[in-house]
Amino acid sequence: MSRPGRGDTVSLGIDDLAFGGEGVGRVDGYVVFVRGGVPGDRLRVRLVEARPRFARGVIEAIEMPSPDRVEAPCPYFGRCGGCRLQHIAYPAQLAYKTKQVADCLERLGGLGAFELRPIIPAPALYGYRNKMEFTVAGTADATSIGLHEADRYDSVLDVERCLLQPDALNALLEETRRDVRARHLRAWDAETGAGLLRFVMLRAGLRTGEAMVNIVAGAPEIETLAPLAERLRARLPGTVSVVLNVNSRKASVAIGTEEHLLAGRDHINESLGGLTFQVSANSFFQTNTEQAEQLFALVEAACELGGGETVVDLYSGTGTISLLLARHCRRVYGIEVATTAVEDAVRNARANGIDNCTFLSGEVRHHLPELIRKGVRAEVVVADPPRAGFHPKALRALVALAPARIVYVSCNPATLARDVVGLTGGGYRLEWVQPVDMFPHTPHIEAVARLTRAA
Ligand SMILES: C[S@@+](CC[C@H](N)C(=O)[O-])C[C@H]1O[C@@H](n2cnc3c(N)ncnc32)[C@H](O)[C@@H]1O
Repeated sequence: MSRPGRGDTVSLGIDDLAFGGEGVGRVDGYVVFVRGGVPGDRLRVRLVEARPRFARGVIEAIEMPSPDRVEAPCPYFGRCGGCRLQHIAYPAQLAYKTKQVADCLERLGGLGAFELRPIIPAPALYGYRNKMEFTVAGTADATSIGLHEADRYDSVLDVERCLLQPDALNALLEETRRDVRARHLRAWDAETGAGLLRFVMLRAGLRTGEAMVNIVAGAPEIETLAPLAERLRARLPGTVSVVLNVNSRKASVAIGTEEHLLAGRDHINESLGGLTFQVSANSFFQTNTEQAEQLFALVEAACELGGGETVVDLYSGTGTISLLLARHCRRVYGIEVATTAVEDAVRNARANGIDNCTFLSGEVRHHLPELIRKGVRAEVVVADPPRAGFHPKALRALVALAPARIVYVSCNPATLARDVVGLTGGGYRLEWVQPVDMFPHTPHIEAVARLTRAA
């Protein structure tokens, strides 16, 4: 039978979800990716792209829905680029994430027997994000503040309410939008330099009730924005911080080259694991406070600290893991490339009265060999690298340090699997892996792996 082509309509069953959350079906073995497809669905699909090895299709009709298909509660679902899995029942989302981790580890093989522990579900399925970044777009008559449409970076949905953020942030979004419109503030145009606003980033301390509005603008128009900041603080008293970040470069990022305080103070406080963290506009902070607490409790238990150990925290960010572990060991060395994150870590250590952490600013592949040269030995290493995982030199240095236990926190099962293979080649045994769902309704997958050094 000839392979279907672009424009053809086919009927197929969805039997899997791909990395990223698209449904996967087959027509006589020919793979078709279908956004919005749920394993167990029977769909009529029109092919919009047909390549030699796979095709992409859009759903024309659901001939028979999967038992795991649910009504997505968000009115923007399907158009908004934010959540991709809202139409899949939560237990099926968890099963999909677990399978992705298992597939990645098994595909590489040679890891020996290890335990794949059951995924830890998120305590809250909605309202869990303590930070959201909205793009400002639109015309003079109707400035919109919202989220990009899926795969359409030129189109912004004027999202009235995002279900992933708490009600307090939705109220803040609504007030900000109302005031921006009342003052006729315009979106910034990167080509002409006209207009002003680029992003509105909101942060909440879910445990402290504090909130921040970070306005990212193309110019330092403090006088224009200060009344808006004062009004937000007056209307919503939890708003303890309103800052302006200026980014006049072409790059469409919410991080500015200069920051100005518009009202209140320059940070909010959040508590996690019994510690208080000062979070500034550009600080990295775990986005799901409640689930981060469970993640870090798992990490702490996996470290099996008795009080006398030296711990090295690789890719330490704002030092959250270092500071939580410091209470249970002799000393922690954190290594982190972002200097602002290191500054936050130092500040947070001081604020919490912790004096047994040393934070080193720079790349793991440079600092770790240097620590070893200086004679530092560690019983335990925790690593929480970015999606790219370890640099080969960093991994070699980790093997050279030879800690008894390695606790690896991963946001990308593919690089986790690659690095675990490297570590098993260096004398480690993978004991267990436990996925943790940090971001319900999105395809993001977090997992913790514990490795021990073979005797
Ligand atoms: C997933 S985050 C870790 C977050 C941290 N556990 C926390 O809770 O704050 C990964 C961190 O690795 C840092 N990073 C990326 N590449 C690095 C490198 N080559 N060396 C050191 N740190 C790096 C990033 O700046 C980021 O803070």
